[in-house]
Amino acid sequence: MRHLIRGRVLDFYADPTETEDNHRYLEDGAILVQDGLIVAVDDYAKLAEPGLPETDHRPNLILPGFIDTHIHFPQVQVIASWGAQLLDWLNTYTFPEEARFARQGHAPAMAEAFLDLLTAHGTTTAVAFCSVHPQSAEALFAAAESRNMAMIAGKVMMDRNAPAEVLDTPQQGYDDSKALIAKWHGRGRQRYAVTPRFAITSTPEQMEMAGQLAREHPDCHVQTHLSENLEEIEFTLSLYPQARDYLDIYETYGLLSDRLLLGHSIHLRPREIARMAETGSRAVFCPTSNLFLGSGLFDEGGLRAAGVVSGIATDVGGGTSYSMLQTLNEGYKILQLRDQKLHPLSAFHWATRGNALALGMADRIGTLAPGSDADLVVLDARATPAMALRMERAQTLAEELFILQILGDDRSIAQTYVAGQAMKTAG
Ligand code: GUN
Ligand code: ZN
Repeated sequence: MRHLIRGRVLDFYADPTETEDNHRYLEDGAILVQDGLIVAVDDYAKLAEPGLPETDHRPNLILPGFIDTHIHFPQVQVIASWGAQLLDWLNTYTFPEEARFARQGHAPAMAEAFLDLLTAHGTTTAVAFCSVHPQSAEALFAAAESRNMAMIAGKVMMDRNAPAEVLDTPQQGYDDSKALIAKWHGRGRQRYAVTPRFAITSTPEQMEMAGQLAREHPDCHVQTHLSENLEEIEFTLSLYPQARDYLDIYETYGLLSDRLLLGHSIHLRPREIARMAETGSRAVFCPTSNLFLGSGLFDEGGLRAAGVVSGIATDVGGGTSYSMLQTLNEGYKILQLRDQKLHPLSAFHWATRGNALALGMADRIGTLAPGSDADLVVLDARATPAMALRMERAQTLAEELFILQILGDDRSIAQTYVAGQAMKTAG
C-alpha cells in the first residue's frame, strides 16, 4: 500500500562538521512510502496524487528515525539507581537485575516495554546488549520482528567477576551465541552482535571464543566496552598483565574491525586511538551515562582528528534517558567542557546518518534515500510551553533544531514510523 507522509522534511547526505553542503530541507515536503520502504522524497506538490492516502504532519519536522548505537535492554529497571560509579553500580544494581531475566516470562514482557520506550522517544533502531541468558536475546528479537523493527542485539558473554546467575562458560557462551546467530542474524531486519560484555567479565578463554565467533561471522557486529572508568581500566590491566593497554586485549583476540563498537572509549592512550583509526573500530559516545556514572569526558574532536568514527548512544540504564534528543543535549555540554562545539546540524546528523555510518548500514537506515527503510521520526519543536515560547524567537532551521536538542524529549516526538507503520495511535 502506498502512503504519502507530508511535513517539513530534513535529512543529511554529508557530515555538517566536514562539509557545508550536507542536508536536504523541504519546507512543504513529502515522503512516499510503499511496503515499508521509501519510494520518493520531494516537494508535496510533486508527489500528491488524487486518491493517495496522506498524513499531514505540518508544521512538524520529519527526519530519519533516531539510531541508538549502545543500550542495555535488561536495564529498563536499573535506570536511575543512586550513588555509584561503574564497578559498584554493576555489582550493586545491574548484575542482580540482569539475573531476573532467567525467570520465565520476564524477558518477553520487558522486550515489549523496551521497544515501546524506544519508539516513544523516536528511536527506530538500537544496538542492544541483552542479558547472559539466551532467552533475553530471543525475546528482544521476537518482539522486534513482530514490529518489523531493525534491532542489532546480542546476549552478553560473561564468565567471571559477577554473580553465578549471570555467568556462562566459554563453551556455553559460544554455543548460545552461535544458535542465536543461526536463528536471527539476517532474518527480516534482525542482526546479531557478538557481545563479550567487557574484558573484566570474560576470561581469556572466553575472549578467544568471542574472537572465533567474530571470525566465523564477519558480517556480525561485535560490541563491548572500552576505557569507561579509571578503576575499570586498572582492574582490567591487572587481569590481562600481558596487554599493552586495554584495547590490546580486544586486539589480541582478533576483535578489531569496522564492525566493532567500543562503548565509552573515554580514557584512551595514543596507541589505542591510532589502532582504532587503523582498524576502523568505532568509538561510541554515551553522554548521559558518562555524566551519571562520573566516568569522564569523551574527546569527540580528538578522535575525529585521528580518523576514528564515533557513534552516539544512550547507554540506558547507566544512561539516564531513552531520548536521543536528551543524549545530544548532554553531549553538547560534555563537548563544551572540552572546548568543542556540537552544532545542531552535526548533532542531528550524528543521531541519524552518522550512527548509520558507524554501523555500516547507511544504505538502509539513517537517511531518506529512495529504497531505504521507512523509519521516520516526526519532531514538534513547540511541544512544551517553554519550547513554544523559545520558538517565537527562532529564525532558522538550525535554531529550531537546537531548541529540540536542548529542550526536547519524548514530548517532542509527534510520531514515529517503523517500516512505514505509525507507532503512536491518535489521542
Ligand atoms: N561496562 C560493562 N558493563 C556495563 C554496563 O552494563 N553499563 C556500562 N555503562 N558500562 C559497562
Ligand atoms: Zn554499556
